Amino acid sequence: MLELKNLSFSVVERDEDHHEQQLDIIKDMSYTFKKGKFYAITGPNGSGKTTLSKLIMGINKQTSGGVYFEGNDITHLSITERAKAGIAYSFQHPARFKGITFRDLLAIASKTDDEEKLLKIVRRVGICPLSFLDKPVDSTLSGGEIKKIELATTIARNPKLAIYDEPDTGIDLWTITPMVALLKREQVENKTTTIVVSHNRSFLEAADEILIFNHGEIIYEGDLKKALPILADFRICNFKPCPEGEKDAQCFR
Ligand SMILES: Nc1ncnc2c1ncn2[C@@H]1O[C@H](COP(=O)(O)OP(=O)(O)OP(=O)(O)O)[C@@H](O)[C@H]1O
Ligand SMILES: [Mg+2]
Repeated sequence: MLELKNLSFSVVERDEDHHEQQLDIIKDMSYTFKKGKFYAITGPNGSGKTTLSKLIMGINKQTSGGVYFEGNDITHLSITERAKAGIAYSFQHPARFKGITFRDLLAIASKTDDEEKLLKIVRRVGICPLSFLDKPVDSTLSGGEIKKIELATTIARNPKLAIYDEPDTGIDLWTITPMVALLKREQVENKTTTIVVSHNRSFLEAADEILIFNHGEIIYEGDLKKALPILADFRICNFKPCPEGEKDAQCFR
């Protein structure tokens, strides 16, 4: 349902001496996400997970390659056009807005301001109390609260493809399990194709397929069992090679 064809994203950086250097952040990536499946993308910090998510949503513009959604070429479509086609993205760092409440965001996402329908959505999502409805989505919200609101707003769009970028960041321990169950329920009951970017084992266990990124490439695709040795391999996380005679644990950057 979502196909990445030789997708690349590079930026040009200038150092103090004005020398230009090309940084390849996503490298010639090809992958097909299947309809109704649950994917977890994990990998070291800086490996390109958010960059890829934003390429799919159209927030980043690819350097080369293409993105196909339900058989249609969406490579050059805007964010709004991709949202209309049924793709939703939950930001790793959600925006805050002065003068806007959770109710406003939900109403825009679900295209209704009917009180009963809004309450139904909040109950369906479950992780936000009803008292959240009139909370302003501004700097007064806690880190976990804004992530819950971001996730609820994404679900309220009823997307065909939902991408959640580290939905568990800042989320309390009591909410992680219900959050995983909620995203699984959306996958199973609403056939939502789900991509969760996460470092959290609970999401990896919930996934049908795990992708491990490193340096802008997919270095593993498959189940959790075979992923475990890779997740335990410190060399992947850009740790410094160990000097002779020193223990691994002393070699962290
Ligand atoms: N527009 C940009 N200009 C320069 N560098 C960028 C740009 N976008 C991303 N990067 C760099 O590309 C790398 C990948 O960033 P990205 O945010 O995709 O990582 P990530 O895998 O999501 O990491 P994390 O686990 O920390 O969220 C980082 O080193 C980042 O600094
Ligand atoms: Mg990220």
